[in-house]
Amino acid sequence: MTRASRFQAFRFVFEREYTVKAAEHLKMLSLVEVLGLVVAAVLAAPAAAAAQAGSQEQVTFTKDIAPIFQRSCISCHRPGSIAPMSLLTYEDVRPWARSIKQKTSRAPDDPDRMPPWYIEKNVGIQKFKDDPSLTKEEIALIAAWADNGAPRGNPADMPDIQLADGAWTIGIPDLIVSSPQMTLPGVAPDFYGRIGPAKTT
Ligand code: HEC
Repeated sequence: MTRASRFQAFRFVFEREYTVKAAEHLKMLSLVEVLGLVVAAVLAAPAAAAAQAGSQEQVTFTKDIAPIFQRSCISCHRPGSIAPMSLLTYEDVRPWARSIKQKTSRAPDDPDRMPPWYIEKNVGIQKFKDDPSLTKEEIALIAAWADNGAPRGNPADMPDIQLADGAWTIGIPDLIVSSPQMTLPGVAPDFYGRIGPAKTT
């Protein structure tokens, strides 16, 4: 007998013994015990379902995520601003759910972390006006939402978008410097050179 077949034989005997013992044990359960188990299972089912709903289905875009994005993301992630895509509406956001989870849960000092906020979280001043950074709870909420299929939720929960296109987010600046418009060829080396005088207003 090879080692493998000895193992197979052992497994067979073990499983058979186990099955027979389990069957005998079941026979010994009285009717009262069986009824008790059924009642317990029926009582437990709704509680388990509720717990699952509580942990997973609760996080939705309209109710939980959109308010966070409005505070911390859309100053850059909206049409005409500096980020590559808009995060204003559910349709804008949905394709990016996975990437959003990744970028928001990077280490605080990772330069790729979103939103960009390079304040060390363990030294120095920590209270800033208009601080866009996310709390640990918000980061966990975004991750749970993305992991759960990034559900939209009830459209009625969606907050009004607070930011008019092109509005300054922290008041009108003292000085605005606008570089002249430049057009570069689509396929060309990086451009290093003078761009001419900048207009100040
Ligand atoms: C200060 C401006 C700013 C804020 C605020 C900001 N972002 Fe960004 N975000 C950017 C820029 C710029 C890029 C492009 C960076 C690059 O391509 O290297 C980017 C890239 C991203 C990407 C990666 C896109 C890709 O191409 O893979 C994700 C995801 C993202 N941001 C999500 C967020 C989320 C979520 C928030 C808010 C919690 C946020 N960002 C806040 C400026 C911002």
